[in-house]
Formats: sequence, C-alpha cells, structure tokens
Amino acid sequence: MLRLVILATCLTLGHFADHDTFKNCSRVEFCNTLRNRQPFDKYAVDPSTITIDDNGSVKMTLKAKKGSDLQLELLALVDRTFRLRIKETASTRYELHDVLVAEPQLAHIDGVLQQDNYVTIQVGETTAQIFYDPFVVNFYLVQVHQVVIDGSTLTFDESLDQAFAFNVKFPAALQLYGLHEHADSLALRDTNGSDPYRLRNLDVAGYELDSPMALYGAVPVLYGWGTYSHAGVFLHNAAEQWYDITNGQWDTQANVMVESGMFDLFVMIGPSPEDLVQRYLSLTGTFRLPQLWTLGYHQSRWSYMSQEEVKDVVANFTTYNFPLDVIWLDVDYTDGKKYFTWDPATYSDPVEMQKNISAAFKRLVAIIDPHIKVEKGYNVYDGALEKGYFVKRANGSVFEGDCWPGLSSYIDFLNPDARQYYGSYYSYDKFPYSTPVLSGIWNDMNEPSVFDNSIEKTLPGDSLHFGNVSHRDIHNIYGLLHTMSTHQGLLDRDNGTTRPFILTRAHFAGTQRYSGIWTGDNTAGWGYLSVSYDSCLGANLLGLVFCGADVGGFSGNPDTELLQRWYQAGAWLPFYRAHASSDTQRREPYLFDSGVQGVIRGAIQMRYQHLPVWYTLFYEHERNKVPVIRPLFYHYSYELETFKLRNHLLVGRDILVRAVAEPGVETVTVHFPGSENEHWMPVDSTEVYEGTTDVDVPVDIKSIPVFYRVGSVIVRKDLVRLSTDEMANDGYTINACLDRRNQSTGTVFLDDFTSYNYANNKQYNYLRIDMDDVNVALTKIDEDSNPDGFDFVIDEVIIHRIVQEPQNGKPGRYVKTVHKTDANGQLLKNLKFNYDEPVSIKLGL
Ligand code: NOJ
Repeated sequence: MLRLVILATCLTLGHFADHDTFKNCSRVEFCNTLRNRQPFDKYAVDPSTITIDDNGSVKMTLKAKKGSDLQLELLALVDRTFRLRIKETASTRYELHDVLVAEPQLAHIDGVLQQDNYVTIQVGETTAQIFYDPFVVNFYLVQVHQVVIDGSTLTFDESLDQAFAFNVKFPAALQLYGLHEHADSLALRDTNGSDPYRLRNLDVAGYELDSPMALYGAVPVLYGWGTYSHAGVFLHNAAEQWYDITNGQWDTQANVMVESGMFDLFVMIGPSPEDLVQRYLSLTGTFRLPQLWTLGYHQSRWSYMSQEEVKDVVANFTTYNFPLDVIWLDVDYTDGKKYFTWDPATYSDPVEMQKNISAAFKRLVAIIDPHIKVEKGYNVYDGALEKGYFVKRANGSVFEGDCWPGLSSYIDFLNPDARQYYGSYYSYDKFPYSTPVLSGIWNDMNEPSVFDNSIEKTLPGDSLHFGNVSHRDIHNIYGLLHTMSTHQGLLDRDNGTTRPFILTRAHFAGTQRYSGIWTGDNTAGWGYLSVSYDSCLGANLLGLVFCGADVGGFSGNPDTELLQRWYQAGAWLPFYRAHASSDTQRREPYLFDSGVQGVIRGAIQMRYQHLPVWYTLFYEHERNKVPVIRPLFYHYSYELETFKLRNHLLVGRDILVRAVAEPGVETVTVHFPGSENEHWMPVDSTEVYEGTTDVDVPVDIKSIPVFYRVGSVIVRKDLVRLSTDEMANDGYTINACLDRRNQSTGTVFLDDFTSYNYANNKQYNYLRIDMDDVNVALTKIDEDSNPDGFDFVIDEVIIHRIVQEPQNGKPGRYVKTVHKTDANGQLLKNLKFNYDEPVSIKLGL
C-alpha cells in the first residue's frame, strides 16, 4: 500500500526518473571499467619523434609500455587556446565535423625549449610543457599553472573497443562548472559517492532534481573557476561521456570517461571569466541576434486541439489585456503526426487561422520533430526512403522505431543531402498552408527519442549513418544537425531575408548558431523553478544564450502561488514561454481570479518594459561573445560566496534578479555583489543596497526583488501594449542610476528587428548613453553604421539619485526625477538627432 502511495505521489509530482531505463555508470560497461581502473604510467614520450613546426604544431609518439603506441599532436591556437589530440597510430576513430564554427586559427610558436625530460612551447604569455616519462602535459599562463593532463590516468586499451579516459586538473581553480545539461546546481558537485555526471542526449521524462543523470543536451565543457584565474577544457567529441568531479583548493579535477571518437581536447586559458567564455565562443560560435518578437511572451500547451481553440486563446489574451507575441502548436495540429501536414478536421483552414493570429499582431510557432511516420504515400517518408536518407540498422535495413506517429524512421541528418531534403519541406510550397505568420519552428524529440526503454529511448549505438558512421560516435550531435537543417530550410524559405527562430530540445556545443533551447519536461514544483536559473545560467556561459524553462512546469498542476512566482522569475530568463503537458489543468493566465491575473500581467508587462535591454544584450552577445544572463561570479569572481549562490542572476551587468523560489515567504535573502562602492536600487522602492552584503529583503506576492546597478543606464519602453509589433514605434524611457560622481552609462541597439541588414549592411543605431544629473549624451558607437530609420525617440528620462548612502548593511535611499522636456522646453520625443555628431541634450525640469 505504502509503495503504491509513494509511486502515485512520484507520478503526480513527476520527479520520477526511470532508473531501470536510464542507466547509471555501473550498468554501462565502459564507464564501469574505466571508473574503476587504477592509475598506471602506461605511456612515455619518445623524444626522438618530436617534430615542431613554428606555425603552431607539435607532434610526437607516445610509446606504450603495454599495448599500442599513440600519436600526440599539440596545436597552438590564437586566443590563449591549445588543442591536444591523441589517437592510435592506425586510428579508425570518427573525427567530428559540424561543431566548430570554423577551422581554428593556428598561433605562431614563440619559443621552444627541449630538455632531457621535457619540452616547453611558448606562445605569447602561455606555455605548454610536456614531460616525457612519466608523461604529463601542463599548461601555464605566465607562471600560473592552469591545466594538467595527467598521463598516469590516460587510458586507451584495445580491450575497451574505442573507449578512453583521462584526468584533467585545474590547479588554479576552486570550483568546476559546465557539462550542461543536468537538473542540478550550477556549481558541479563532487561525485565521490554518487554517479558521475553523464553526457548523453536522452528523453528523460519526469527528470529528477539534484541529479547527475543525462538529460536532453550535452555540452562537454568544463570551466575551472578560481578567485584570480580561470581556465577550461572542451572535449570535441559527440559520443557518450561520464565525468567524475572533485572540487577544492589544489585538487579541482575531473576524471573523464568516453565511449568512442577522438581525444580532441581544447584547453582554454582565461585569465578572466569573460576571456574564458570568449575563447569557447570563438571555437563554437555565437547565437545570432533574434527577431524582436521572439523575446516577447509565448503561450503554449500540449496541445491546442483546434484552430478554434487557438483563435480563442489569442482573443482572450487581448480581452484580458495580457501581452502576447506567440501562440504555439504542439503535435496535434498535424494529420496523424505527419509533420508538414495539418489535421483536416481540426485544422481545416490553417490560412484563415494564421490571418486571424496576425490580425491580433501575434505569430505562430509549430512543432516539427525528426521522426517520420512510416506510411507509403506520405511524401516526406517516400522521398527519404527512396533517396536513402534514413538512419539504418547495423544490418543495413532502414531503422524503424516507435514515436508519436507510431512506427517511424529517422532522418539521417549526418548526410548533407538529407539535411537539404528535410530543410526544403519548410518552404511555403512544400509545407501546405504555411504562411509567414508561421514565424518559427520547434524541433522536439531530437535526442532522438524512440519509445523503447530497452535502448534508453534512443537510437541504438550500432545504427548506421551516412558514410557508415556508427550512431554512438555522433549521438550527441543528432539534435544539432536537425536544427542545422531546419535553420537552412527557414533561411531558404524566406530568401535569407528573415532571421530564423528555432527552439530545440536536444543540443550540443555549437547549437547556439542555429537555435534556442528550453529545459524540457520539468515539473510544477518549487525546485524546478529554482533549477531553471541554474540550467539557463550554465547554458549562457556556454553560448546557449536563448534559454528558458516551461513557465508553470510541464508536468503537474502548480498552485497559484507557484504559478505567479514562475511568471515573475521566468520574465528574467531569455526565452519566456508557458507550456504544459496534455494531462494538466488549463492555466492560461486569464483563467485565474483578478488578483492572480494582476500579478501575472505585471510580470509579463515587466518583461515587455525591458525588451530594449534584452534586445541590446542579444546584440552585444553576438558582437562581444558575452552571455546575456550571468551568474554573479561572472562579474564578481573575487567573491567566493557567489560561487554557489542559487536563485540569483544578472541580466547583462546591470540588473540583479532574485527569484522567489520558496513558498509562503515574507522575506528572501538577497546577495548584493560588489564592494561597498557598488550600489543597487530596487525597481519598485526607494532603498539603496550596497555591495557584498546579504540582506533579508521583504517580499509580497506582487513582485520579486529586481535591482538596477548604480552607475548604469537602463533603457525601457514603459508604455506596454499587447505585442512587440504594436510597441515598435513607441519611444523609450532612459533610467539613469547616478553614481557618487553623478554619472551613469549604458547602451541601446535599434535596427529593423527582423533582417540581417544590421550585419550585412551596418544598418543599425547602436548608441552609448552617458548621463549626469542634467545632461544626456548620445554617441554612435560605430562610425560607419547607418542609423537612418532607427531613431532613438526618448519619451522621458528618469534620474535616480542617491540621497542617503547605505551604511553598515543598512539600506540608503534614492529619489527619482522625471524629465520630459529639454532645457528649451521642447518635448524630448520631438527632438530629431543627427547621430553622425555626438548628441548632447540638456534636460529641462
Ligand atoms: C516532449 C516535449 O518536451 C514537450 O514539451 C511536448 O509537449 C511533447 N513532447 C509533445 O510534443
């Protein structure tokens, strides 16, 4: 009886990952063997084999004391990065493509010193040092020891098929981060006594919290964070991997176990957090500036079952005055789960539905999964079958497995022609009744998911891809290749005029070049709200900046307190979408009483007010390789207490958010980062808090704590309408948070919100805003940009001035003054500027 109750509770709450289906390390042969191996100095460098090319490459043979020799290649790359590749002399290992943004650029080797037992290679301020016997590779920045590959733990063994293992140490680090995606704290935990963190893209329904279990995405990057030095590694390998983690002074390290593929390790040296993230993004690319509407609020459900229902939901958002930009279609819009079709009974007139959506200034996103229904006469299936574009079984026959449509085959996205074929179905003529209102695509189930628990719900490792590549070698990039195909398809569909919007569940390093991500099937529980911050912050450090979580929780029914808190917290993640499973109660915001509606409306409106901030940050991500949201330690890594902080994030540098992820609280502890020279102003009260203090800040249900950094300029649109399109021509509000010297600075970016003209033709208006208490100065950041048509219309300027400094942990006070005219009495919004000259406005009272 008790067992039944526990089972029922787990099922309703959803935190019940199926450990029978999803294996732990001891049930995965290579992991079990490699985890239990003993260190053994198996390899030594044969010094007579060393060759050094000044243009960046060093090669040598590692003689095996037992078994086969290995070949080592060390490449010196620009940007304080090294690439270490090790493989058997006669390697048959799969070498990964499609992940790096470009072939990394080699750096010139500045100096070589060869001694009896080691060789050092100097590149700028970095040094790689290879000891021969025992074999060890060290990486330094100036004198600081950054990364060590310990040869005694290097394991390549014929008996393990292609599995290999190694240990990497981070002598200057205190804490490891990375290895996205796990439902766990951002700071990786020590795995001594638990399973290692696993990287294998899997469809884990009802995933549990605080767990190293694999989830939908896999990004094999480790960042070692210290107070003064930061270094990282990126394993360029798409096979299954497991990581044992140890954190602590002088002992921060990972033991890495990999099923197959290449030992191809990028070693990235900071020293600052910003540098480190930039190094990684130089290798794998950035997310391109999204269209503005994608940053609005999205409403989804599995599923809106008919076109009438869709229109009804859209109409209700308008009636009840909730901003909304996008309505989503889950799998049931299709005819029998055949993608690129519509259910003839329930979606009989998709064109009329799209017109209706567009008339309300909204857009549509529809789901398209990678599995294709096995059905003769279904054009997508017939064409792929005929052309050999499906993944095959080990015996060469086409793989068939169960998914939403029933028996399905899986497009072989490793094949460039198959990618082209699939992508072409997004065109208006091949996706019947699709119009430009269908503005984005949701790629789901692309781990890929196969409904068969005996194979961990995914393709068997011995399935075959284009070029006879085993699935196990490329498993973790299947979803990446799916989105690559969709991305090209959407670009082609709109002749390259429109920036594609894609959301994907499976992801890998480099996915950011094509798609946003969300955290999959979370649960309506407080812990899942909290972990959405950890997950999306982790993703942001890895370039996957467009990240969000199902607001309200996918499984289960949130109570109204949790739902309101989720809307408030979710408004500060880059992707803002409510979604819910098919067996949950309806929870569109207008269905609640007016009190709850007011809170949710306030949260969504807060999001829309800050859209200029989001849009500018996304531009700056692409331009400067900086995350959009950031954990506090990104900017304040000298503060050890920020390393494990939860429920906090920074939007850019200047907005501090504390999610309320605790039920029934009247205060929450907020950590204000920075020294006593850093001050923070709450958006909705007049206190001022100072840096490096923990303060219990009062909260009520109406809002969560949000603060502007003193010294910043926050640009908003304070007149919130019902969609981004309707707000496109509205003016801006400048919020200047003056510091002790009466100064503050910020940026704003404007363009057509849609096309690539900002990148291709420099058609944009990117301004630096410098403020004191009476003057606004606007400076065009790029002289050669063309701001024609993108006027920065200023509705008002709000000056926040501190009138009482905080002291000894006690908050101070600030006052606001609102200015709508210049010193000549002209309304600010009527002023016209020529941005080629610095613009200077003296404010009126
Ligand atoms: C799984 C996705 O994670 C979920 O968001 C979606 O609703 C279902 N698939 C149905 O398509």
